[in-house]
Amino acid sequence: MRSIIERGEMASSHSIILLLSFLFVLSAARIESALETNEEEEVRHYHTLQLSSLLPSSVCNPSTIGNKRKGSLEVVHKHGPCSSLTGDMVKPLTVKETMTHDQSRVDLIRAKLAINTGKKDLLGSKATIPAKSGSTIGSGNYIVTVGLGTPAKKLSLIFDTGSDLTWTQCQPCARSCYNQKEPIFTPSASTTYTNVSCSATECSSLASATGNNPGCSVSTCLYGIQYGDQSFSVGFFGKEKLTLTPKDVVNGFYFGCGQNNQGLFGGAAGLIGLGRDKLSIVSQTANKYRKVFSYCLPSRASSTGYLTFGSGGMARNIKYTRLSTQGGSFYGLTLTAITVGGTKLPISPGVFQTSGIIIDSGTVITRLPPTAYSALSSAFRTQMKKYPLTKPLSILDTCYDLSNYQMITIPKISVIWGGNTNVEIAPQGILYANGVSQVCLAFAANGDDSDIGIFGNVQQRTMAVVYDVAGGKVGFAPRGCT
Ligand SMILES: *[C@@H]1O[C@H](CO)[C@@H](O)[C@H](O)[C@H]1NC(C)=O
Repeated sequence: MRSIIERGEMASSHSIILLLSFLFVLSAARIESALETNEEEEVRHYHTLQLSSLLPSSVCNPSTIGNKRKGSLEVVHKHGPCSSLTGDMVKPLTVKETMTHDQSRVDLIRAKLAINTGKKDLLGSKATIPAKSGSTIGSGNYIVTVGLGTPAKKLSLIFDTGSDLTWTQCQPCARSCYNQKEPIFTPSASTTYTNVSCSATECSSLASATGNNPGCSVSTCLYGIQYGDQSFSVGFFGKEKLTLTPKDVVNGFYFGCGQNNQGLFGGAAGLIGLGRDKLSIVSQTANKYRKVFSYCLPSRASSTGYLTFGSGGMARNIKYTRLSTQGGSFYGLTLTAITVGGTKLPISPGVFQTSGIIIDSGTVITRLPPTAYSALSSAFRTQMKKYPLTKPLSILDTCYDLSNYQMITIPKISVIWGGNTNVEIAPQGILYANGVSQVCLAFAANGDDSDIGIFGNVQQRTMAVVYDVAGGKVGFAPRGCT
């Protein structure tokens, strides 16, 4: 336009028409580019996906990407088709049962934190730990298979970043053992098993690792740990050779050899504790793996993920945030904001500061302060207007009937951790389906803004999650597994 005027072609009717048509072309181009930006915006802030990708599959489809390093253990969902723990041992849970058990785990975490922070009033009040038949360890757990003893015996263990002690059921099961898939470990048949003496420093470390003072029987240290009223393991504290993979062997690993075990551990032989306290596998292998481990939880139970110790073979595009010092053996993070469809929710940062948040491998659904959750669900509902709402699913209150859809478009959700670390949640971490007619926003509100937040395992799906405990940071990378 300027060049036309500069050339001094003064207003002949011809040049006015030229100018007008030029302006028209210009504004049309502007509209076009505006449209383009909208489309780009759509791609940038929304996921379009097949509804079927949110539904369970009865066939195991192992992840084709992920950490294929030799030191990686395969991670499978306890109740999925990739798990060896199928059949009578593991009754598949309904989505409702999963949610009820998940709430029990959240209550247990809260009770443990209250004990750690010295709020003793909760200790005596059993009501904070609900009496469910052994299911309080949670139902959203993932398992890995390790080798124990010499010769090594295969055992499937629940992996848990929310506790420290590793234990397995042991023969002769002096009091009781629950049903497990693999043969129960027999210490007398292993050439490398030894009892830990009552005077060992590791024996006294049991107090903080289990919340119970150790016992002593004929100079052998005794441990006891409970995960709710009817779910526990009690037995000898032992030392044994632990074979994570043929190349990753830990000699003299301290673990609980359970003589009295009760609970619905779903056919798993016990539990592997990945917490922050002294006796966790992370602490016991500090010299070998420098307190670094990472995992990827698959998008659904019909796929597989990994658990890796050490920093070998890690993704490059990891975004880190600082670990906070609060939270006892739990991994505390700092949450600063949440975005939905590219827009930051109007939540005062003080809300997250008050609650705090931990990341947990065993809690299924992320728990947020009610103030934050209501901002999240209302923004989500606004952007999901075209889909019909339906009845709530247990703790999930924002649910849609998607029976008439095959493809859906949903707003992206990102969490912004301390240090401005923006982590985008995968579509399978945004919605939780109870069939096509009830597909729910996979977040829930705590009872009170002062209750601790929990970043659950649904929201961690498909991300590589890296714990660099020595470096005081936790990192996330997209597309760790499928
Ligand atoms: C470990 O200690 C218990 C209790 O004293 C004993 O029954 C068991 O035989 C001991 N096992 C080994 C391998 O020493």
